[in-house]
Amino acid sequence: PEAGCLSIIVLGASGDLAKKKTFPALFNLYRQGFLQSNEVHIFGYARTKISDDDLRNRIRGYLINDKSAPGQSEQVSEFLQLIKYVSGSYDTEEGFQLLDKEISAHESSKNSLEGSSRRLFYFALPPSVYPSVSRMIKKCCMNRSDLGGWTRIVVEKPFGKDLDSSEKLSAQIGELFEEPQIYRIDHYLGKELVQNLLVLRFANRMFLPLWNRDNIDNVQIVFREDFGTEGRGGYFDEYGIIRDIIQNHLLQVLCLVAMEKPVSLKPEHIRDEKVKVLQSVLPIKDEEVVLGQYDGYRDDPTVPDHSNTPTFATAVLRIHNERWEGVPFILKAGKALNSRKAEIRIQFKDVPGDIFKCTARNSGQNSVFTYVRRLSGDFCDSVHEAVDKSAVGKKQGRNEFVIRLQPSEAMYMKLTVKQPGLEMSTAQSELDLSYRQRYQGVTIPEAYERLILDTIRGDQQHFVRRDELKAAWEIFTPLLHRIDNGEMKPLPYKPGSRGPAEADELLSEVGYVQTHGYIWIPPTL
Ligand code: BG6
Repeated sequence: PEAGCLSIIVLGASGDLAKKKTFPALFNLYRQGFLQSNEVHIFGYARTKISDDDLRNRIRGYLINDKSAPGQSEQVSEFLQLIKYVSGSYDTEEGFQLLDKEISAHESSKNSLEGSSRRLFYFALPPSVYPSVSRMIKKCCMNRSDLGGWTRIVVEKPFGKDLDSSEKLSAQIGELFEEPQIYRIDHYLGKELVQNLLVLRFANRMFLPLWNRDNIDNVQIVFREDFGTEGRGGYFDEYGIIRDIIQNHLLQVLCLVAMEKPVSLKPEHIRDEKVKVLQSVLPIKDEEVVLGQYDGYRDDPTVPDHSNTPTFATAVLRIHNERWEGVPFILKAGKALNSRKAEIRIQFKDVPGDIFKCTARNSGQNSVFTYVRRLSGDFCDSVHEAVDKSAVGKKQGRNEFVIRLQPSEAMYMKLTVKQPGLEMSTAQSELDLSYRQRYQGVTIPEAYERLILDTIRGDQQHFVRRDELKAAWEIFTPLLHRIDNGEMKPLPYKPGSRGPAEADELLSEVGYVQTHGYIWIPPTL
C-alpha cells in the first residue's frame, strides 16, 4: 500500500510554521529523493485568496539553505512546480470539496501508477480550528481509492491548555480518525540526539548497570534560548514556558532517559514504556518549582501589562519507581537567557570512600573539593597544611554524562583524570564525541524533515500517543492552574542572565553539584 500517488496537503499554507518549517522540510525530502515528482503533489490550503505563484514566491526564500550547493535553485524551481494552492475557509465544505477535487484530479492523472491514494494532511494551523478542519477532511477529503492507501493527519501542539481541554480536543479528533491515522508532532523527538537515546541506553553494556538510583544523583534536562518572545508575545502569553517547552519537549526527553527497556523497537512497545514513566511521576511540589519572567517581557504590546506568564521555569519531577526513587529530574527552560542550548545532564553520585577528594571542613564550602597530597597521616582535619598548593581553589567535580542536543550536537562524559605531568594532581576532563568532528561531511537532518518522512512511511514511534499526551497533562495541570489563578508568581530576571538565582539554589538543594572552573569547549575542526 505504500506505492502510488501521494498528496501532501499543507493546511495553513501561508502561515509561519508552514513557511519556516513544513515547506523547507518537504523541500529537503524532495532534494534527497524521498519525494518523487512522478507520484507526489503538494497542496497548500489557506483562507487568503492568492495564486499558485503567489504561494510559491512566498516560500521560495525559505527553501534554499545552502546557496553554494550546485543545482539548488533549479531544484527549488522544480519543487515549487509540485505545489498547487487552493483557498477556502476552515469550517465550510465548499473549500474542502474543491480541495478534494484537486487531489482527485492529481490522483487520476497519476493512475498509471496503479497504486493507492495516500493523503497526508499537515495542520500548520492554530488548534482552535483543528476540530472543524478534521470534520471537513473526514466529510470531503478522505481517500476513497479501491486500491487501498490511507488518509493521515499531522497535528502539532498546543494540544489544549490543560488536561480537560486537551482531552476534549483528543475526543473531537478521535471521533473522526483512528489513532494510527493521527500523528502528533513533538519536534524534539525528531532531533538526532534525542533519537540516539534509545541506542545509547540499550545498545551499550556500559550504561546498563549505571543507569539507576544507585549511581545517578540527579538528572537535568535544560532548554535555554538567548532571545525573548519577539513577535510571538500574543501566542506565548496564553501558554507560557511550561506549556510551550516543558510539558511537551522536555517531558518527552525525560521519558526516553527514564523509561525501561521496551519489549522491542515497535512503536507501541516504545510508547508503552514512555507512558509508564509519565504515570509514575509524583505530583509536583510547589517548593520544587521556580518561575521567572524576564524584565521587559510585558513591554511587548501583545502582552498584557499585568501578565503572570512565566518565561522561565525550573521544576523538579520525581519518578516513583524502583529505578528512580529519590532521583530528582530537574526540568528547566527559559527565554531571554544568556545562551541558546538544549542538553541532558546526568550527574553521578560521589565516589564512595574517595581517596582523591576531601571537603575543606572549616572553610564552610562543602562543595569545594581539594586534592590532598597523600603524606602519611594526612586526612581532612589537616587539610590546610596538606593541600597541594596548585590545587587550591580548583574544585573537583562529579562524573557527568552530558548529551548536547543543540547547538553543536555532542555527547561527553566528564571525568576526573590525573593532570598530565610530574605532580600527582587531578583535573577535570572529558571523553568527547562531538558530532561535527566525528561525522565530518554528514548533514544532520532537521527534525521536521525526519518526522514528515515518518508520517509518510507510517512509523508512529516518534509521535505522541493519545494516552501519553493525557499523562503529560496530568503531571502539569495542577501547577498550571495555580499559575493561571495567580497563586504562584514568576520572579523577575534580567534578560541575558541565567534566570532567577532561586533556580540555581533549588538545583543545589535537590543535590546538583556544579563544577566551578570547568567548561567543556566543543572541539574546533
Ligand atoms: C517550539 C516553541 O516548540 O520550540 C518555541 O514553541 C521554541 O518557543 C522552539 O523557540 C524551539 O525549538 P528548537 O528546535 O529551536 O529548540
